[in-house]
Amino acid sequence: MITQVLVLNGPNLGRLGVREPDIYGSASFDELAELCRSTGRTLGLHVDVRQTDSESEMISWVHEAADARMPVVINPAAFTHYSYALRDALAMRTAPLVEVHISNPAARESFRHTSVVAGVADGTVAGFGLVSYQLALQAIAELAAESAPASARAAQAAEPRPEEPAQR
Ligand code: DQA
Repeated sequence: MITQVLVLNGPNLGRLGVREPDIYGSASFDELAELCRSTGRTLGLHVDVRQTDSESEMISWVHEAADARMPVVINPAAFTHYSYALRDALAMRTAPLVEVHISNPAARESFRHTSVVAGVADGTVAGFGLVSYQLALQAIAELAAESAPASARAAQAAEPRPEEPAQR
């Protein structure tokens, strides 16, 4: 059983690579997306990576995830600090939710020290560059395995991982 996961990215993250590279690094958004997909493959996850500058579009994706019982990794970007509408949408979640940040907001300007979404997430990973996303996906894989019904867990355990050759 492959778990479908949404990796949602908020405003200005489409500009990765050119946006303040001293803070966010030199990798582009496309490179981040490919890293998430390949990390997902090693964890048995199908990862759909999206980015929007629009609060309304972000909220519609969060609703979609809730309706489909899909786990979510979200970097809400600046929405993190003030979007009660996004927090309310995330509070309706029906599957694991991990908040992620490339930088460490706690070590930056004081307006970044508040996350209005952290309280509705299972946890937050911040400050490790793109590795934050890999750690978040690992957490999702663990949480999804814990919440899966026993029959699905048994089927998943029997499935070979892509990097492991099948036993003959
Ligand atoms: C960010 C941190 C936020 O404070 C900021 O507004 C972003 C990116 C991060 O990934 O480090 O846009 O979420």
